[in-house]
Parts: sequence; C-alpha cells; structure tokens
Amino acid sequence: MTLVSKDITKAIEIVNNEDVVAIPTETVYGLAGNIYSEKAIRKIFQVKQRPLFNPLVVHVHSIEKIQEIVSEFADKAKMLAKAFWPGSLTLILKKRSDILDLITAGKDTVAVRIPNHPITLALLKELSFPLAAPSANPFGSISPTSSKHVESYFKNTIPMVLEGGDCKNGIESTIIGFENNEPLLYRLGAISIEEITTIIGEVKVKNKKELAPNAPGMLARHYAPETKTYLVKNAEKFIKDYTGKKIGVLRFSGEIDSSNMEHVEVLSKKGDLKEAASKLYGTLHKLDKLNLDMIVAEIFPDFGLGKSINDRLVRATKNK
Ligand code: TXA
Ligand code: MG
Repeated sequence: MTLVSKDITKAIEIVNNEDVVAIPTETVYGLAGNIYSEKAIRKIFQVKQRPLFNPLVVHVHSIEKIQEIVSEFADKAKMLAKAFWPGSLTLILKKRSDILDLITAGKDTVAVRIPNHPITLALLKELSFPLAAPSANPFGSISPTSSKHVESYFKNTIPMVLEGGDCKNGIESTIIGFENNEPLLYRLGAISIEEITTIIGEVKVKNKKELAPNAPGMLARHYAPETKTYLVKNAEKFIKDYTGKKIGVLRFSGEIDSSNMEHVEVLSKKGDLKEAASKLYGTLHKLDKLNLDMIVAEIFPDFGLGKSINDRLVRATKNK
C-alpha cells in the first residue's frame, strides 16, 4: 500500500534508504530519489516505464547546492535564477562529472530547479543530497496535480506520496538551456515566454518542430488522456459531425450551447490564463474518468500561458 501523508520524517527515511517518494511541487507532483543512488534512479525509470534516453530534472533548495551539480552558470542563467527561483523554471546547465549518466541520459548537461513548495523545500533542506524527480505519471500520460492522481497511477508500486495539496501552477516548469551562452527554450511551461523575455531578451526555440502547435505530426504523444481527445477551434461546430456520441468539452471561458454535450468544463470563467493552466490537468483527469466517447478541447489564446496550454493540448491529442 502506498502511504499518502505529510510526514516529512518518513519521506526522509525512504529516500535515505535509496527508495522513491512522490513529492509535491507548485507545478506538478514529481517522483523523487537520491541523485547519487543508482538504485533509486533506476527505480524512477522503472516505475514510470520511462525510456532511459529521457533525462531527469534535479531539485535542490538553494543556489549553493546547485554549484555541487553544475560546472558552469552563464550570466543569463543567473539572471533567470534570480528572477524566478524558487519557482517554475528549469535550467539546463553543464553538469559536474560525478552526476550519474543515468540522470542526464549521457548528456554533458543537467536540468536543475528550485521548486516553490514549502513541504518539498523543507524536505530538501533536511537531505544531504538533491532529488531527481520527473513528473509522477506513467510515461506519456497526464501529469499529476494532486496526491490522488499519483496514488491512482502508482498504488502499491511506490512506498509514499508526500501530501502537499493541489499544485498551485498545475503545469510543468518552463525549461531554458544555453548554447554558446545564448538562451534556448526547451519547453513551454508555467512561466510564460513573455516573462522570460522581460529578464533576458529574446529566446530562440530549441527545436521548433517539437514546440510548434501547428505541426502536430511532428509532436510526440504526451500528457494524453485514455479517452480519444481532439483539439479544435470551435467545439460547437466540430461536434455536429458526431451526434449521439457522449462528448466532453474543455474550453477557456465564455458561454457555449451545451445541448449536444454530455459535459462541459470551463477552465476560467473570468478569462484568466493562470487559473486555466492551474486547472488543466486536474480537469483532463476528471474528464478521462467520465466514460466519454470523446473529449473535445478548444484551442486557447496564443499568448502567455495560453501558449503553454496549447503545447500540452497538441501533445495530448496526438494519435497513439
Ligand atoms: O515542473 C517540472 O519540471 C516537473 C516537476 C516535478 O519539477 N518535472 C518534470 O519532469 O516535468 P519531466 O521529467 O516530466 O520533464 C523534464 C523534461 C523532459 O522532457 C526531459 O527530456 C528534459 O526535461 N530534460 C531533462 N534534462 C535535460 C537535459 N540535460 N537536456 C535536455 N532536456 C532535458
Ligand atoms: Mg513529464
């Protein structure tokens, strides 16, 4: 049985023992283990069924601790760290040689972040080592934003979920890396690209094909519900071709004629993208449990956190 509890002492005991614990962060829950324990890191990959070529994010509680992990810290990276940590920003920096290849998938860089969640910060402070933690979901499925989500994914396969309530931001961190000291966007996330640009100026996209919502054929299926899911401009119009189907609709805000819809979820009545992002995964989890024939999501505004939400929806709606 998986223990779901706020007991930090118990969590410390488990990670000290080279096992894994799910931890709350302000973005999504992570599945955490000691970065220096090959046993713990292997278990993370095994529990998630994650391919070994996909590297992990290392979590620490202070900038000093990061110096133990990275060998270079570019000026622009420092500016971002100062502006956003603790918070929903992951930096990809040159790693120190004693960081396990298993964590970085053999790359010479490592992804690091200081999360902004009191319970996990308290846990990290008590430990002599950082925690590697990918999102606590099976590879490819919707990320967890509550302890319940983690529990339903990994009942009996992990010893503990450290209870930290619902994740405030509800979408993964924004990832920025560097090439020749120039910043590159690796993943859209909880900090909008406009906010990043305000601090360090223009940021190029690492791999356009992976990030552009208008090139769905190029995207890896990820963050995906079990229920067949579509991403459309206008749900009312789209479902006209599907009469008789049990349809769940996910949309940003505003009114809709719901007569042919089994269920409608509006993520922010007042039209606030931050509120919408925080509810996105929780709502997808909920819709996925309603035994619908299909989920129809409407494209979000293409700015601010709307861009990050669209990125996730495009990946969630790619065919298996
Ligand atoms: O908000 C978050 O970042 C959450 C919480 C738990 O902190 N973590 C998270 O981890 O989303 P994960 O493993 O689901 O996503 C991390 C992403 C992966 O797409 C991985 O490929 C990329 O970060 N990544 C990690 N290390 C990298 C590296 N050295 N170079 C390039 N990409 C890297
Ligand atoms: Mg993930």
